Amino acid sequence: MRRSTIIGMLAGLFTLSAALPTTTSSTSAIATPIPTQTLTAEILLGSALRPIPVPGGARLIEPITGGTVNGVINGTISGGFASPILTSNGTIHQVSIYVYGLTSTNQSFFVRETGVGPKTGQVTRLEIEAGGHGPGDEVDLYDTFILARVEPNKAETAVSVQGYAVPQPV
Ligand SMILES: *[C@@H]1O[C@H](CO)[C@@H](O)[C@H](O)[C@H]1NC(C)=O
Ligand SMILES: *[C@@H]1O[C@H](CO)[C@@H](O)[C@H](O)[C@H]1NC(C)=O
Ligand SMILES: *[C@@H]1O[C@H](CO)[C@@H](O)[C@H](O)[C@H]1NC(C)=O
Repeated sequence: MRRSTIIGMLAGLFTLSAALPTTTSSTSAIATPIPTQTLTAEILLGSALRPIPVPGGARLIEPITGGTVNGVINGTISGGFASPILTSNGTIHQVSIYVYGLTSTNQSFFVRETGVGPKTGQVTRLEIEAGGHGPGDEVDLYDTFILARVEPNKAETAVSVQGYAVPQPV
C-alpha cells in the first residue's frame, strides 16, 4: 500500500472521530431513568429434575407449582418452570423463568423472565403477556419494560420477585 494512501486513510479516521458526538453531549441528552416499583411475586418451586449437562456446568429444570403476583397485574400463578444454569462450582450463571396463570379478572397471563446472578439472588428482565392490550385496557404491559430482583428463600422452595418499571426516554 502506498504511503500517501495510508496517510489519506488516517486523515479520514481523524475526520470521522471529530464528527462523532463527544461522551459529554450524548449523556446529557438522555436523562438517567428512574425505575418505579411495579409488582411483587412469590413463586413456589417443586423439586428439580435430573440436571442436564451443559458446557461449564449443568442446567436445572425446576417445576413451578404455584404462587401469586401483585401490582400492575394481580393474579395466581398456575404453573411454569425455572431453568438456571449452575456452573460447576455451584454458582448460578444465568436464570430463565416461565410462569403462567390467571389474573383476578380471570384472564390468562404469561411471564418470561431472564437474568443473571449468584444463587443468593439475581437481576432479571420480565416480559409480561397479559389479558389483551387494546383500547380500554388499563395497563399496556406489552409496552412496559420491567427489571426485577429475584431472591430465593433459604430452603430454595420459593423465590420472591420485586419488579421495577423503567420509563422510556421522552
Ligand atoms: C391490584 O391490586 C391492588 C391492590 O388491591 C390495586 O391497587 C391494583 O390496582 C390492582 N391492579 C390491577 C391491574 O387491577
Ligand atoms: C465459581 O466460578 C466462577 C467462574 O469461574 C467464579 O467467578 C466464582 O468466584 C466461583 N465461585 C466460587 C464460590 O468458587
Ligand atoms: C373466575 O372463574 C371461576 C371459575 O370459572 C369463577 O368461579 C369465578 O367467579 C371467576 N371470577 C371472576 C372474577 O370472573
